[in-house]
Amino acid sequence: MRIIALFNQKGGVGKTTTTVNLGAALAEAGKSVVLVDLDPQANMTTHLGIEPEAVHISTYRVLTDGIPLHESLIRIPLGTGHLHIAPSTTDLAVAEQELVAVPQRELILRKMAQAQNISADFVLIDCPPSLGLLTLNALTYATEVIIPLQAHFLALQGMAKLLETTALVRQSLNPALRISGILFCQFESAAKLTGEVTGEVESFLAEARGKNHPWSEAVVFETTIRRNIKLAEAPSYGQSIFQYAPNSAGAADYSVLAEEVLKMPPPR
Ligand SMILES: Nc1ncnc2c1ncn2[C@@H]1O[C@H](COP(=O)(O)OP(=O)(O)O)[C@@H](O)[C@H]1O
Ligand SMILES: [Mg+2]
Repeated sequence: MRIIALFNQKGGVGKTTTTVNLGAALAEAGKSVVLVDLDPQANMTTHLGIEPEAVHISTYRVLTDGIPLHESLIRIPLGTGHLHIAPSTTDLAVAEQELVAVPQRELILRKMAQAQNISADFVLIDCPPSLGLLTLNALTYATEVIIPLQAHFLALQGMAKLLETTALVRQSLNPALRISGILFCQFESAAKLTGEVTGEVESFLAEARGKNHPWSEAVVFETTIRRNIKLAEAPSYGQSIFQYAPNSAGAADYSVLAEEVLKMPPPR
């Protein structure tokens, strides 16, 4: 089982859009996929058409009441694919304070996921835009991290902190954690900055090869997600891009990304 955290503490970079649509693409490709919404804004939950009233067990309750993650899952109807979501609600915002005195509070998500076996090919975790306890829980449970990035001039701002966080989690809580890839979202190949930013990221990764960093084997995905208005519209219809606009550039890009993710070699 590959457990992938979509992580970048910056908001608006494409974490939620990628979690939903990569998940849907993998499900369309015949994989069983569990999505975990760890963002108190619950954008992924609403994106998939789930009203707050329809949520019985949220990730908030999984973390604070010790309920197995499996019990929170809601099935998302999607052709033949197997797609489930562990939904979030806004009360997740107070979980960090409520758990502050709980021992091993970074391990709760992993423990609750293992409490009752989740049988899926992929678990994709939509992280909140912060480096707090919720993100630490995601990184402690994950086997790998995908970092969505936007190729504009502030893209690399905050990267040091993000990388440091993965290194710390790997050192103390999750020795297997690795960054598997960097994904450019809202991509505009015509923009002058795009080439500069992608070049910077490539050379940064090249320097880390052979060293013992969580990002030593990371790739820049060959697939880029183009800026596509359909991707921005789909959430208001409560649908993934494959239901809302199956013939759009956005659907095409996420299908190709899913193929690339499926072809990635296992960690060394
Ligand atoms: N490739 C894209 N093309 C157009 N709009 C996009 C694209 N990716 C994301 N968006 C839009 O940009 C906004 C931020 O994306 P989102 O996935 O919510 O980022 P994050 O979860 O990192 O905060 C959302 O309104 C989303 O619909
Ligand atoms: Mg989001």
